[in-house]
Amino acid sequence: MPDPTYRRLRPWAPVVMLAALMLSVAACSPSQYPQTTLDPRADFARDSDQIFRTTLLWATVVFVLVEGALLLAIWKFRNRPGAPEPVQTHGNTTLEIVWTIIPAFILAMIAVPTVRTIFKTAIKPGPDALQVEVIGHQWWWEFRYPQYGITTASELIIPAWRTVSLDMTTADVIHSFWVPQFAGKRDVFPNRFNNLWFKAEVTGNFPGQCVEFCGMQHGRMGYRIISLDSTAFDSWARSFNTPPKDFAADSSADPLLKQGQALFTAKACSGCHAMYPSLPLAGPNLHHIGSRTHIAAGSLTNTDENLGRWIKDPQGWMPGVLMPNLGLKDDEVKALVAYLRANQ
Ligand code: CUA
Repeated sequence: MPDPTYRRLRPWAPVVMLAALMLSVAACSPSQYPQTTLDPRADFARDSDQIFRTTLLWATVVFVLVEGALLLAIWKFRNRPGAPEPVQTHGNTTLEIVWTIIPAFILAMIAVPTVRTIFKTAIKPGPDALQVEVIGHQWWWEFRYPQYGITTASELIIPAWRTVSLDMTTADVIHSFWVPQFAGKRDVFPNRFNNLWFKAEVTGNFPGQCVEFCGMQHGRMGYRIISLDSTAFDSWARSFNTPPKDFAADSSADPLLKQGQALFTAKACSGCHAMYPSLPLAGPNLHHIGSRTHIAAGSLTNTDENLGRWIKDPQGWMPGVLMPNLGLKDDEVKALVAYLRANQ
């Protein structure tokens, strides 16, 4: 038999659990977990957020009025000892007209901005926008900039205050592109192109995530949007097109870098990964890999330790990923890390 304290406290269990849940949800501040739709940083996300706020406002009005009327009726017409039978009524035309007109008005207040935003966000931007071809892969995102002849992987560099137009498809299965602070979700389908656009209103580094289950490593199929001011973006785009450093041809280069470059070709890395800006191969493009903030589809910060760990045992971090374990020795990993890091 449960002891009396347990029985006394038991009815409070749901209250305690609800309080704990509310406290933990309240802890999810945007600065800690930036994957939030409630802190928009681009025009598309702000328009969507505005619809959410409008709907929430009207829903609150409806909730307060309906629940208020319900509570009032329950209290006012409660059963009292010896009270007479309530007045029986059937039909009230005025009331019926009022409760038809008010909901119709509220629906219109929600529908008009919603439909307007749907049309606005479905229009494909003009040629002035930064054009980016987005290709989903198991499990990373490829970004090609046809106006600049650039191909990047897992990091979408954009200029703030300029509309970015994404033409999106997939090389294999269905994925879904989502940067919560910038725009809504868009699925990508084989042999089809979906468009998504937004204009970033701040500079900074924002996480994105694949949001359509696409296999074992779906949960780690992340990426970054890095929004730069227009000058920084222009200089990034210009400098990106410089060819990678050739340490083999440089007699003064560190022997470790020469070894790393030789290994990159000898160990078949170069069969899947390009070190050149515009060359798409089966694996992520590694041009300027040394200066990226993250590796492994945004799942590891780009430190020497993580880069080495990834090169040595990709299957240990992402089981099922296309990159095989090459059985590299520690000194070979060290040389490859040095070579990749030198490509800033
Ligand atoms: Cu790609 Cu989930």
